[in-house]
Amino acid sequence: MWMILTIISLLQVVTVHSLDNGLARTPPMGWLSWERFRCNIDCKNDPDNCISENLYMKMADLMVSEGFKDAGYQFVNIDDCWMARERDSKGRLQADPDRFPHGIKALADYIHSKGLKLGIYEDFGTETCGGYPGSEFYMQSDANSFAEWDVDMLKFDGCNSDPKDMDTGYPIMGQFLNQTGRPIVYECSWPSAQWVIAHIKPDYKAVREHCNVWRVARDVQDDWVNVQHIIDVYGTDDSGFTNFTGPGGFSDPDMLVVGDFGLSYNQQKTQMALWSLWSAPLFMSTDLRTIDSASKALLQHPGLIAINQDPLGAQAVRLYQISSLGVWLKPLAKTGSYAIGIVNRDNQGMPNTVKLQLNQLGLPGPSYNISDVFENKPLGVYTSTDMFIMSIEPTSIFIGLAVPSS
Ligand code: GLA
Repeated sequence: MWMILTIISLLQVVTVHSLDNGLARTPPMGWLSWERFRCNIDCKNDPDNCISENLYMKMADLMVSEGFKDAGYQFVNIDDCWMARERDSKGRLQADPDRFPHGIKALADYIHSKGLKLGIYEDFGTETCGGYPGSEFYMQSDANSFAEWDVDMLKFDGCNSDPKDMDTGYPIMGQFLNQTGRPIVYECSWPSAQWVIAHIKPDYKAVREHCNVWRVARDVQDDWVNVQHIIDVYGTDDSGFTNFTGPGGFSDPDMLVVGDFGLSYNQQKTQMALWSLWSAPLFMSTDLRTIDSASKALLQHPGLIAINQDPLGAQAVRLYQISSLGVWLKPLAKTGSYAIGIVNRDNQGMPNTVKLQLNQLGLPGPSYNISDVFENKPLGVYTSTDMFIMSIEPTSIFIGLAVPSS
């Protein structure tokens, strides 16, 4: 009898329905602290840059005053290292009392008063990647805390856990979030933890069913070699995630490092354009107090954001990579229309002249109005056999729109 009851109660716990929360119909856009501000908890010596409520409030202010909110960026997201080292006496999570003296609920109220949304970070395992209390054994309590604090998004990381448990554990956390009744965008590190760390091929159908956003590659770093690695993860798609992106669920190549230290202007342009072609979540991780005007204009580029937010939500595929030239194509919601990306990864000091017929770009014709998205400039009408000629600078990208001309 006891055995039967135990089995029934276990079944109740693991009968998990799909997430289906109606959120993230287009890729979420916002700001996330990790890449730029890491786990800097030294507020005594570095008060302006440490992980604290002040940092997130300041970034929220700037998102509004500097036009990021108007451009479409909505979330201000906390990453690792926000917690106290211990749970409270009832086992609940608590923010570090020195760095978040007013608590997460007050921070959420502030962010909401700016018309923005607040995201938070936790981990599926026993500890976060930075060594703070993880959600294992506390998932329901943590989901309830996030909802009580009026949090709008959760990044659920995958450190300090067994990747084999994720196929059952991540859906359960999604269910607990759903049960709170609060709409919370659910981001999962489930596939990247399985594929990148444990070489388990992820079940993307299940991932898409239970998460709004899922990481597919290793962590982005502030340098071109690393960004190129992510470009190739998308180009080769060895783990098979391309066809799962669409309204409600998006593959995540990790944060934008536009405006930071490591990428040239052209490389920043390439990152922003490819992330847009992929329908990737656009999470800036940069210091909005000091960002230069060129990087800011890139992050706010209306043409790129429109491609990123296209309602079809398709992920561009790499048609080919020949030598240093990579050609990407993204179908758009407007019938027969495409966004095209041509990346020149050559690093020799002069622009490459590229000549292609439109049918070599996968455009069947008969003819298209082509425009240059960066320059917001019409380039004329081309048939599918017309030669299209453009000059692309080293480590840069041409990004065009092709709309049927009749
Ligand atoms: C992992 C994640 C990162 C970041 C850190 C925090 O490495 O992939 O995005 O959240 O943990 O410790």
